[in-house]
Amino acid sequence: MNILILGGGGREHALAWAIQQNPKCDRLIVAPGNAGIAQMAECAALNIEDGGAVATFAEENAISFVVIGPEAPLAAGVADRLEAAGIPCFGPSQAAAALEASKSFTKEVCDACGAPTAAWARFTEAGPAKEYIRARGAPIVVKADGLAAGKGVIVAMDETTALAAIDDMFGGEFGAAGAEVVIEEFMEGEEASFFVLCDGENVLPVGTAQDHKRVGEGDTGPNTGGMGAYSPAPVLTDAIAEKAMAEIIRPTVAEMARRGTPYKGVLYAGFMIKDGQPRLVEYNVRFGDPECQVLMMRLGAQVLDLLLACAEGRLDSAQVNWADDHAITVVMAAKGYPGSYEKGSVIGGLGDVPENSMSMVFHAGTKEVDGKITANGGRVLNVTARGATLREARDRAYAMVERIDWPGGFYRRDIGWRAL
Ligand code: AMP
Ligand code: GLY
Repeated sequence: MNILILGGGGREHALAWAIQQNPKCDRLIVAPGNAGIAQMAECAALNIEDGGAVATFAEENAISFVVIGPEAPLAAGVADRLEAAGIPCFGPSQAAAALEASKSFTKEVCDACGAPTAAWARFTEAGPAKEYIRARGAPIVVKADGLAAGKGVIVAMDETTALAAIDDMFGGEFGAAGAEVVIEEFMEGEEASFFVLCDGENVLPVGTAQDHKRVGEGDTGPNTGGMGAYSPAPVLTDAIAEKAMAEIIRPTVAEMARRGTPYKGVLYAGFMIKDGQPRLVEYNVRFGDPECQVLMMRLGAQVLDLLLACAEGRLDSAQVNWADDHAITVVMAAKGYPGSYEKGSVIGGLGDVPENSMSMVFHAGTKEVDGKITANGGRVLNVTARGATLREARDRAYAMVERIDWPGGFYRRDIGWRAL
């Protein structure tokens, strides 16, 4: 079959790598792709948030399955447009994508189905929001309701920071995303991510992971899109995963179906775990980036069969074949990230890094210029490895990092420290 993947980051490189290993995949196109993806699949220029353009492209190229990587095309209704055109696709409808696109929507769904999460309130004006903060006190969490590229959450350890966040949000710092603000109880505990496939009714867990959001070693400094990840997440034990399925995931999926907006695609749940009890921090309606890279490394070619079963409503008879192993990914980013950084620095040594079922360098922001791979974004490479233990996977990944010659980049040396 001919398959189209939408997106051009490390997540989509990892999806392409896994999908292409499946014999069902005859031709693979990734739009827009990146320099790493271009070494293994066709890349196409396409406005991936324009559902009409995506459907036309799919028809012209006899595409029989579209996999949507990032949240923006999902929130823009690209899955709905493909469904209307009769083109099978992996990813939720615009209505179901509200689980990521609107924090207050998610909180309403949790309340309706009794899923444990932080106490919350919603505001459209600064005055009452500040009153609420003063009444509750710090620590407290202030969130822009809409999509803000992962930057719309302020975890305020004191009241002054929380009040300033209210001014920023209603002052337009996050654009339309901040027109509505959600204020939440601060939850303590350890965070972990849980990934399940849903076909509207059936739910299939496909792995756990932990990422490293802060830019600096020891989890310090500003937040980023993620500086590294590993799977599985030991804190998310089987017992806690079962509890999460029973108390959070299944009730959410049932509530979405009850509302007439069944959830189809991957549901990425962020949990806060304390004393054996998971509570929902947030949902995302796509694979995490870089969490996807470690999941793909562990799942391999079967991913295509799972995504097809998900899109075709056959998850009740699908199963995951697990290798009892560990995977880790180390993000190499451009110096300056997540602040301002330069593009265009040349990355050498990639040809010396072994690429096989145990080790892969997935490209995030790269571009080929005159035959050389150059940095073209903040997060640039995802150096990913598998091993029988997390330690073995980590040592393999850092040995790969050592071979990469990129003076313009940096990375954290402590990925996996919590689990190790
Ligand atoms: P989100 O974009 O909702 O994932 O929030 C980003 C990060 O903020 C999360 O990964 C948590 O580390 C933190 N966070 C969000 N909500 C809460 C909360 N209610 N309590 C504690 N930390 C939170
Ligand atoms: N790594 C966090 C995310 O994909 O949202």
